[in-house]
Amino acid sequence: MTDLTPRSNAASGDGAPNRTDRPTRGFSGIGDSNQLNPIFAREGEATDFPLNRLPDRESLPETAYQVVHDESMLDGNARLNLATFVGTWMDPFATKLYAESADKNMVDKDEYPQTAAIETRCWKMIATLWNAPSAEGAIGTSTIGSSEACMLGGLALKRRWQLARRAEGKSTEKPNLILSSAVQVCWEKFCNYFDVEARYVPISDEHKVLDGHDLEKYVDENTIGVVGIMGVTYTGMYEPIAQIAAALDRIQAETGLDVKIHVDGASGGMVAPFLQPELEWDFRVERVVSISTSAHKYGLVYPGLGWVVWRTVEDLPQELVFDVTYLGGHMPSFALNFSRPGAQVLLQYYLFLRLGWDGFRKVQQASQDVAVYLSGEIGKMDAFDLWNDGTDIPVFAWQLTPGHTDKWNLYHLSERLRLKGWLIPAYPMPDDISDLVVQRIVVRNGLSRNLAESLVLDIQESVAYLDALESPMPVEGQVVAFTH
Ligand SMILES: Cc1ncc(COP(=O)(O)O)c(C=O)c1O
Repeated sequence: MTDLTPRSNAASGDGAPNRTDRPTRGFSGIGDSNQLNPIFAREGEATDFPLNRLPDRESLPETAYQVVHDESMLDGNARLNLATFVGTWMDPFATKLYAESADKNMVDKDEYPQTAAIETRCWKMIATLWNAPSAEGAIGTSTIGSSEACMLGGLALKRRWQLARRAEGKSTEKPNLILSSAVQVCWEKFCNYFDVEARYVPISDEHKVLDGHDLEKYVDENTIGVVGIMGVTYTGMYEPIAQIAAALDRIQAETGLDVKIHVDGASGGMVAPFLQPELEWDFRVERVVSISTSAHKYGLVYPGLGWVVWRTVEDLPQELVFDVTYLGGHMPSFALNFSRPGAQVLLQYYLFLRLGWDGFRKVQQASQDVAVYLSGEIGKMDAFDLWNDGTDIPVFAWQLTPGHTDKWNLYHLSERLRLKGWLIPAYPMPDDISDLVVQRIVVRNGLSRNLAESLVLDIQESVAYLDALESPMPVEGQVVAFTH
């Protein structure tokens, strides 16, 4: 949450933003005694920069660097952040490549034709990984992340439906999309921004994911599609895409409605091909017309990069596609953003070459081994009941064993673990079971078995401390700061 309160100025004790009276404090710029001042004793470091207003003068690059560097130290330690799905480690060659290509704009296909060609190679590799009938017949693009990729998938479903309805002379007023109540917020945004009614199928203890049950109650002639998730954000569980497709087959047989599936494979799209290659969730399932993923999650790239691929060119309505010039010719483009970084695309390509299929499998397997170890240790503790065990994507969640304690809750445990540096969020499950609070760990490349063992000790120690309390922890002011 952003704190909008002005921070007090340590040097003078006044409110930092209100500085129009301050030129005499002086950022004297290059070429004066500032250059001689020892580090941490220079103007700007020894005093303060205005927080919400452009400083009046220049400062030395070393000074500005030091201030920004120091401020960002107050962020959590990314490697101990077990809340995020997003990559927090790449090897030094990737870092070198990143620095070399930070200036490339992905949209300038004509100026950076090689980056554009590499983007195409990448999505074709991914189309093959997802068992598209043919990489040549498929179409795809990079995006800034899964959110943009999901929006593009949703837009294509909506336009396909509109075209079909118009051709039949029917109304296109009330499109709806069917989703699990545990979808990521990007789908709520899609429905809100693009005027589509979201029809949520509630998850429950009995149906922990969208699994096709009762789907006929939600589908009608205005349904533009169904979203299936490979790696539900709340828990990491896979939704059974083939089972959802079978339910839609039955609906089609009874009603004639041919409803397609977009798979939100934000995490699982880059895990299932390596860890569960036999599982049919991708273009092997006929009803799946498009799949999206976050390259910056289990694609192992720094943020922000995503991918979306359509089964065939026909599945992406042509009127949504713009032409950009490319090497004097034309290249199709379907994106919400115009400019965005090209470097991440090169990083993805680097990883594809560096790791290959076998390397990806080893990395994902190592993460899963750590996840299964952690869920095993946490599951053994009396205080907890596992919701799942990390054998889909390397992510799992647990709840407090009913009746275990009335002195503390999972938010308190989250706070105690934070004292040790671990960021492990607790949060309520979605509507219908929002009384249930769970805690979740996302295991990513870089959380070693050694670190995981330290984490288990820290959890055991924290639980022992909380269990030993004589009176309950305060719950006043407890807020859910974590959102999906
Ligand atoms: C299932 C799912 N879909 C979409 C998203 C949005 O992804 P991004 O952060 O890449 O926009 C997430 C993010 O966690 C997710 O878990």
